[in-house]
Amino acid sequence: MSTLRVKAISSLHAEFSVPGDKSVSHRAAILGGLSNGVCEISNFLPSEDCVNTLKAMRSLGASFDVLEEMEGYGPTKLRIHGRSMKLTAPDAPIDCGNSGTGMRLLAGLLAGQPFTSELFGDASLSSRPMGRITIPLAEMGANLETLGEKPGCAPLRIHGGKLNPITYEMPVASAQVKSAVLLAGLFAEGTTTVIQPAATRDHTERMFAGFRISCRTHGNTISMPGGQMPESCDFTVPGDISSAAFWLVAAAAMDGSRLLIKDVGLNPTRTAILKVLSRMGAHMTEILHSTDGEPIGNIELHGAPLKGTTLLPEEIPNLIDEIPVIAVAAALAEGDTHIRNARELRVKETDRITTTVENLRKMGADVEEFEDGMVIHGGLPLKGAEIDSHGDHRIAMAFAIAGLFAEGETVIHNTDCINTSYPGFAHHLAAILRESRDAADFVLPTVTP
Ligand code: S3P
Repeated sequence: MSTLRVKAISSLHAEFSVPGDKSVSHRAAILGGLSNGVCEISNFLPSEDCVNTLKAMRSLGASFDVLEEMEGYGPTKLRIHGRSMKLTAPDAPIDCGNSGTGMRLLAGLLAGQPFTSELFGDASLSSRPMGRITIPLAEMGANLETLGEKPGCAPLRIHGGKLNPITYEMPVASAQVKSAVLLAGLFAEGTTTVIQPAATRDHTERMFAGFRISCRTHGNTISMPGGQMPESCDFTVPGDISSAAFWLVAAAAMDGSRLLIKDVGLNPTRTAILKVLSRMGAHMTEILHSTDGEPIGNIELHGAPLKGTTLLPEEIPNLIDEIPVIAVAAALAEGDTHIRNARELRVKETDRITTTVENLRKMGADVEEFEDGMVIHGGLPLKGAEIDSHGDHRIAMAFAIAGLFAEGETVIHNTDCINTSYPGFAHHLAAILRESRDAADFVLPTVTP
């Protein structure tokens, strides 16, 4: 099990790009595999989560050729051979690893297939709630068994078949649930409608448009007629703003720093982190250079002394994955930061309320825990500590960022999990630790393929 060792730096001056977006890469693998031809996907995220989804599609008949790769991780550019919606039964249960997105989206897809299949994952994934997808998919006519030791949890056995369209009012604001129902809806006769309690990331809907699948959004209601054939297309995955968030927080909280993140996704359903950091005092400019499909652009950020803020209820689904690192920013800010209405954090890769609060306290921060979030009384100096990621990639990376501000050394244990979303993070961190010593401007090395 690997560890990361981090020491404080005094300023950060860097320009670089982060690897491809995790959410978009999963969807590109799935829709490419369903499409009616060959799709070339560039800047695919070569992380364990996304590679598992690619392999899942291969086990369902959609082969792929690797055109470029990040050595030791996985493909960054690939050609997928679509199955024109006709998948084949897999020979063995499908491994989704650590990925809730992979499992839930694939379950939606498999619900509409004329065969039985099984999805399983690691211990963390096997403890996450699957009722949120099995309920709507059962309403559509699929028969899903949850075989886990914990009730309502994976492994999943999916007896797919003919599906009915439904109108589904989601009890939780979850893009994974919305996408599972829409993917199943592709195989239903008639129009499937999903009503969200709040806006969630809309990558599925945007990618549907790229694959010429008609899908309408009115406010928080999304409707899509079934039986449509995705038309193959080429696709470039934007950099992942959730990965960029770690460096954005590091630079924001370090007065005098300058950071330029290039070619990152600026989809408005994902950019609440930028609004929050601006409210906290960071100076930021976004320069959009492509608005076709997924908006892509650069973010330039200048650090400043930060102040506390309150996350708005409607912002929570938009920045749910960034909350651990926002909590780190809050600990470094003067004043209180209120993070509430975020109960969903309890069912992520770990219970991220507990793991964030526990580790912040270890580093000397003053944090109150609530059932649905936390209040951070910022401004106390952080001190180096031994941090356990509990196998959660975002916890490992958030506390590596905290270590950049702490007195003494911070050691983060159990960091292999970082590869589920940010292959190359340790390489970027090492470059920042090395180069910042003389505070010179530098360009981070790309993680060599
Ligand atoms: C994701 C949606 C979010 C997010 C996850 C990726 C997606 O989960 O936390 O990392 O790709 O749809 P929920 O939609 O379940 O909140």
